[in-house]
Amino acid sequence: MTNPMFDPKDLEELLKEEFDEDESAPDAEKKGAKEGVISHDGNINFNLKPEELESFLNKYVVGQEDAIEIIATKVCTHFNRMKLENLIPEDQKVIGNIKSNILMVGPTGVGKTYIIKLIAKKIGVPFVKADATKFSETGYVGGDVEDLVRELVHEADGDIAKAEYGIIYLDEIDKIASIGNQNGPDVSRSGVQRNLLKLMEEAEVDLKTPHDLASQVEAAMEAQRTGKVTRKKINTKNILFIVSGAFSGIDEIIRRRMNLKTIGFDNDVTGQNKNTNYQILKSIRTEDLIKYGFESEFIGRLPVTVVLNDVTVDTLYQILLNKYSSVVNGKKLDFLSYGISLTFEDAALRYLSEKAIEEKTGARGLLSVFEKALIRLEKTLPSLEIKSILITEDIVKNPNEELRKLLINDNIKGFQKDFLINHGIYLDFDTEAINLIQEKAQSEHMSFKRICEDLFHDYPYAIKLMKLDKFTITKDAVLNPGNFIEKYIKDNYKKERQADKPISE
Ligand SMILES: Nc1ncnc2c1ncn2[C@@H]1O[C@H](COP(=O)(O)OP(=O)(O)OP(=O)(O)O)[C@@H](O)[C@H]1O
Ligand SMILES: [Mg+2]
Repeated sequence: MTNPMFDPKDLEELLKEEFDEDESAPDAEKKGAKEGVISHDGNINFNLKPEELESFLNKYVVGQEDAIEIIATKVCTHFNRMKLENLIPEDQKVIGNIKSNILMVGPTGVGKTYIIKLIAKKIGVPFVKADATKFSETGYVGGDVEDLVRELVHEADGDIAKAEYGIIYLDEIDKIASIGNQNGPDVSRSGVQRNLLKLMEEAEVDLKTPHDLASQVEAAMEAQRTGKVTRKKINTKNILFIVSGAFSGIDEIIRRRMNLKTIGFDNDVTGQNKNTNYQILKSIRTEDLIKYGFESEFIGRLPVTVVLNDVTVDTLYQILLNKYSSVVNGKKLDFLSYGISLTFEDAALRYLSEKAIEEKTGARGLLSVFEKALIRLEKTLPSLEIKSILITEDIVKNPNEELRKLLINDNIKGFQKDFLINHGIYLDFDTEAINLIQEKAQSEHMSFKRICEDLFHDYPYAIKLMKLDKFTITKDAVLNPGNFIEKYIKDNYKKERQADKPISE
């Protein structure tokens, strides 16, 4: 079914904004990103410089400049270093760990996952994301974390050489700390840490799981048929690990270490003071993470730590103003799917940002306040005549009241349209008349249109008699339609006669 009011150009423009390829990127680089920077023989075609990746990320992510600077640099160095390593003969290689696995610390909804997803998209390497909780819950199962590596191969369409240069992103890493969180078996958590750290360093992971009998048989048959033993192991030495978590409560550990206790927190026993918390978090050290419940060997595999800012009202507002904002563009698409084009007043976005901060879920709060503010419109507008709407501050502050007004307006327009089509007369209403009809409609449980049809059923004939093509309904017309039109006709007749006089004499 096609919608006549739906303009595909609107969609095109929106999609272009949302999924804009980096215009500044040279063609070769764009092409490289599409094909992936790793070729089938394991050669690396990576040419990105830290500042290029940094400015790409800053286009999308708001208020995390410090964290982005570090992450962009370390990710670029990682791939450029791998490229260099490939050129160095085996016997001249530096022995030891060269990887800059990254630990990201920051509260929920501030852009941790978003940053990593953007990076993976930009550089086009296989990418796997998982929650560390997945492993703690299943207990000490050695095979579990290795699934991440096998998943990378899957992401690389079975190309092991590509998978060996992928990125594994583990969220909620703080949930595998063995103390600081009393629920759940500790043995399991430090077990998961140990398994992970093996992968983060260097491990050979079997492509086929030992307990997967079918794949074993399949591999054996394949070997028999082709006479070749296909490669079955993936080396993790070049896989970049990025882990992240909110680490709630770690500020207390840092404060204690710094002897800061509750200085300046007299009125804020909850420790919710965001800016100060960020300052405290910035001083995070390995020893704090160990106190929090990590094995020192595990933290040792994460040489780069970045702390992300908590969002403020202003950050949220800037996120919404950003032309890549997935919240705003997502909502526009929701409405566009009904052929309705949506625009937002800045004041409305500001108000929604203020509401979102109260949710205490970072930028995620934006999603829920948008839903709350617009759900009634999203339900109702598709049934109305309205094809475009400006979302004002009034609408988001008081959606129900504003929707009521919109409905009245739509009702009036609908009636006017019918009247014009059926009788060739444009019927206008003054404000008092509208209010009165609306009151009547409410008390009599009838639509605006029905009330008008009842009140003014004789009007088309009378108005045509006066040869008018436009007529205004006033309060008096609503109160006493018969008398009003009768008087109008008489007055009109008198006026005509007066106008005729000079000519006839
Ligand atoms: N700093 C930011 N700038 C722009 N958009 C952001 C920012 N932070 C979050 N967002 C938006 O909010 C969404 C959710 O953020 P994200 O998934 O990155 O949160 P997170 O930090 O990983 O939180 P969690 O700890 O709960 O996993 C993103 O997809 C993005 O649209
Ligand atoms: Mg996340």
